[in-house]
Amino acid sequence: MQRNETGRTAILLSGRGSNFEALYRDSLQPHSGYRIVLVVSDNADALGLRRAREYGLENVFLDPELYSDRGSFSRRLVRELDSRKVDLVCLAGFMRILGRRMVEAYAGRILNIHPSLLPAFPGLDAQRQALDYGVKYSGCTVHFVDRGMDTGPIALQQCVEVRDDDSEESLSRRILEQEHRLFPQAVRLYFAGAFAVEGRRVRKR
Ligand code: GRF
Repeated sequence: MQRNETGRTAILLSGRGSNFEALYRDSLQPHSGYRIVLVVSDNADALGLRRAREYGLENVFLDPELYSDRGSFSRRLVRELDSRKVDLVCLAGFMRILGRRMVEAYAGRILNIHPSLLPAFPGLDAQRQALDYGVKYSGCTVHFVDRGMDTGPIALQQCVEVRDDDSEESLSRRILEQEHRLFPQAVRLYFAGAFAVEGRRVRKR
């Protein structure tokens, strides 16, 4: 991407899409530094996909049933992204592990948001895991994506206190509020060239 250009961002989602909406709203702010050029979903009924259509954003449904393995899904995904000259891919509730082809083609250019302070509680139901474990603080993490599940270098984290009377729903709600701030902040910093990834460590410059 050239300096002074607007970062071409793609969103991958599978469901509700509230993080996508937070990013979309933020991208429309003057000087956000990015815009959403494509929304991809692997779920035809995803609310996020419906919203993308309402907003008039370019969107693609990739039917997992048409791709026999992760490799063929990945190749198609890379084609869709390449053809829109995407600079950055944001996984916003995308419930699928990306294949090698995709992770290599977009190495250092894929961000994921996860509702815990990684490396604690990777995978599904992170808020439930946090409650079951009994931690006093959880939160959310934006990280670069590698081939593992929720394992890539951490860009930003936000802490959220766990209250004695929290249910999975109440904790998820407060974490989600922070996700909606953290993800846009990470994308802005990314396009400002503020992240220097050195092995596992991400320095802000
Ligand atoms: C969020 O909690 C995100 O951290 C996780 O999946 C959820 C997606 O929510 N990866 P939404 O679809 O963005 O509303």
